[in-house]
Amino acid sequence: MSSVPMTAIRGRFLDIQNTVAQARDIHDQVRYVEDGLLLTENGKVSWFGEWQQGQHLVPEYIQVEYYPDQLIVPGFIDTHIHFPQTEMVGAYGEQLLEWLDTYTFPTEIQFSDKAYADKIAQFFVQELLKNGTTTALVFCTVHAASVNALFEAAEQHHMRLIAGKVMMDRHAPDALCDTAETAYQDSKALIEKWHGKGRNLYAITPRFAPTSTPEQLAKAGQLKAEYPDVYVHTHLSENKNEITWVKELFPEQKGYLDIYHHYGLTGSKSVFAHCVHLEEEEWDCMHDTDSAIAFCPTSNLFLGSGLFPLNKTWEKQVKVGLGTDIGAGTSFNQLQTLNEAYKVQQLQGDKLSAFESLYHATLGGAKALNLENILGNFNIGKEADFVVLNLKATALQTLRQERAKHIEDALFALFTMGDDRNIEATYIYGQKAYAQNV
Ligand code: GUN
Ligand code: ZN
Repeated sequence: MSSVPMTAIRGRFLDIQNTVAQARDIHDQVRYVEDGLLLTENGKVSWFGEWQQGQHLVPEYIQVEYYPDQLIVPGFIDTHIHFPQTEMVGAYGEQLLEWLDTYTFPTEIQFSDKAYADKIAQFFVQELLKNGTTTALVFCTVHAASVNALFEAAEQHHMRLIAGKVMMDRHAPDALCDTAETAYQDSKALIEKWHGKGRNLYAITPRFAPTSTPEQLAKAGQLKAEYPDVYVHTHLSENKNEITWVKELFPEQKGYLDIYHHYGLTGSKSVFAHCVHLEEEEWDCMHDTDSAIAFCPTSNLFLGSGLFPLNKTWEKQVKVGLGTDIGAGTSFNQLQTLNEAYKVQQLQGDKLSAFESLYHATLGGAKALNLENILGNFNIGKEADFVVLNLKATALQTLRQERAKHIEDALFALFTMGDDRNIEATYIYGQKAYAQNV
């Protein structure tokens, strides 16, 4: 990537310094700098600390961007989202399998048209930025054109996106089906074209076990073996009817996850969306293979899929990130997603602290994507993706924030009440890519 100008940001910073093994350890890793300075060079953090200590490092020719009243946190990471479903958020009345047939497949058929895919990809990337999301793991459609459209849109902002072509050769309309062989060939060509180009990364993306024949899953596994560095992204154990169907379709395998495992699709760069109803052995397999879960609270509630047991990820030492799962999910916004995550925990008698929420939305999400060494906090050398938050975007928020007892309370109120109005600016690779007031 060509050189990116230096930037100097002054303001109130909050991040999590290191990944942790248990939620109770997060508190010790919270780094709160009330008057801080962040310097970026070539898109990476080159210095971070107290303004007092760092101000002399700012070259005279650089204008400091000062946010005295805001809170600056690392960019939000969305570990599961479908860009072609942007236009179908809020589709009424169905649970997963009927929702796919009634709303999703007809919507996705449109993406054979590159011009249409371009239009929605532009809107999608803009919506991510508007919501402070700087990295996402994204489903496209079965059409290669949809992948090209998305990566081209992401490249315009130097965004780090992971995405892939859906592989799907049965139980869907003909217009949305590939074959085991064309899925393999098309995915391979897209990997060669996009994986590691700029900040783009590729994910092998079988939609879910019911829409792939065993032959196609074998081809997906062959691709992963040929390109071990690429990701695997799919759905797992979201809905009870889905699980019953999967067990009928694959009687040879021990369970749902065992199908993916059998075809070589588990691993430290594999992300499984939902995992609401995992069995004990499946939790063990997730741990043993270092696979990750995308927790999608707004989607799991909207489709009536169930309550994801977040605490089990700590107990079983399984990586987890937050996913919006647009368009089954109801918001692009990670603040709203955390608001619902908190309620999912409450319904199970569990708590979700503000700092744990911040962890999942930033460094923990990076870890789920195997990117914790380059994303997720302000450590020197990390890629400089961050969000400037206005904690007082409405009259009610102002009233509440003026009574906040400490930063954790202020953060919790933001996560409960916040939405895109709180995203004042989003920086990608050290550069301002979105500002609410321009
Ligand atoms: N399972 C298979 N496809 C999908 C999808 O598009 N959305 C969700 N939420 N679950 C799925
Ligand atoms: Zn999904």
